[in-house]
Amino acid sequence: MHNDDILRLLRSSPSGYVSGAELAASLGVSRTAVWKRVRMLAREGYGIDAVPSKGYRLFSSPDLLRVDEIMADRAAGTIGRKIVYRSAIASTNTLAAELAQQGAAEGTVVTAEVQTGGKGRLGRTWISPRGSLAFSVILRPAVPTHKAPLITLMGAVAATAAINERTGLAAGIKWPNDVLVDGLKVCGLLTEMSAEPDRIRHLVLGIGVNVNADLAELPADVRERSTSLAAAAGGTLDRTGLLSEMLAQLDRWYQLFLADETALLGAWRGLNVTLGRRVSVSGAAGSFSGIARDIDKEGRLIVLLDDGTLQAVAAGDVTIVKT
Ligand code: BTN
Repeated sequence: MHNDDILRLLRSSPSGYVSGAELAASLGVSRTAVWKRVRMLAREGYGIDAVPSKGYRLFSSPDLLRVDEIMADRAAGTIGRKIVYRSAIASTNTLAAELAQQGAAEGTVVTAEVQTGGKGRLGRTWISPRGSLAFSVILRPAVPTHKAPLITLMGAVAATAAINERTGLAAGIKWPNDVLVDGLKVCGLLTEMSAEPDRIRHLVLGIGVNVNADLAELPADVRERSTSLAAAAGGTLDRTGLLSEMLAQLDRWYQLFLADETALLGAWRGLNVTLGRRVSVSGAAGSFSGIARDIDKEGRLIVLLDDGTLQAVAAGDVTIVKT
């Protein structure tokens, strides 16, 4: 007997109630086993009434990811066909990298309700409280290593398209890989690569989204630059539906990227909120400001400096300067 079986029976009862005897008969277990399982579900956060003459009734469910549903949705695709799910984990990227090393199939996803040691770009930490979304995808693209940065842009396009599709918000991409709503960050991406000089062994594309999480759980400096999709949309969102959409969009954009990056770069340009804006950049080449002009075929940001020269930026922190 799985939790899912008993929940399915409780959810499908027209009156709301299902007697212990009926549950026991349908599941082929004793009434005591049913009762123990109901107590276990209650400890996991499910609200279940037990009324002597009527039976059990499910009146509330915790906001947990329904990964079986997502895997069923994704069965015909590559990304999300297999999902490794944890209630809590240090970092989904770390576990995904370990699984990739052990030979996990391309498209395997690792997700968790909570991360306790989430990793951000440039060695920063990423806080994923309950109600957010944190997941990592194992990819093994047969492309040269210098194309790896395009995977992050691909992830940003897929994540932004999924957010816009599921929430009706107008999220946009800040180069290279922040997704913003009304100028505030809702999503960040971190790609980690294992490679030989001329061959990618695997990539782990990690995506973190502030969905329904309480913003008060973010550190003050992060909070002032962030929002959640729930806050922006004015209501709690279905994280399972959003993750499923993100994986479908990733599958679509990944296949397009493998065929030829032109469509991907076009989609990135269409969804970005960086180009045409004055930006201040800090990175390996120092700090400077200018007008963000375009991205090149390798995903670098082309900035027009005030002295009229063009600078290509491969990595760094970009702030959009309010003018
Ligand atoms: C950033 O904006 O700095 C990147 C944040 C990336 C966070 C995601 S959450 C899932 C995956 N696991 C991690 O430890 N980090 C990424």
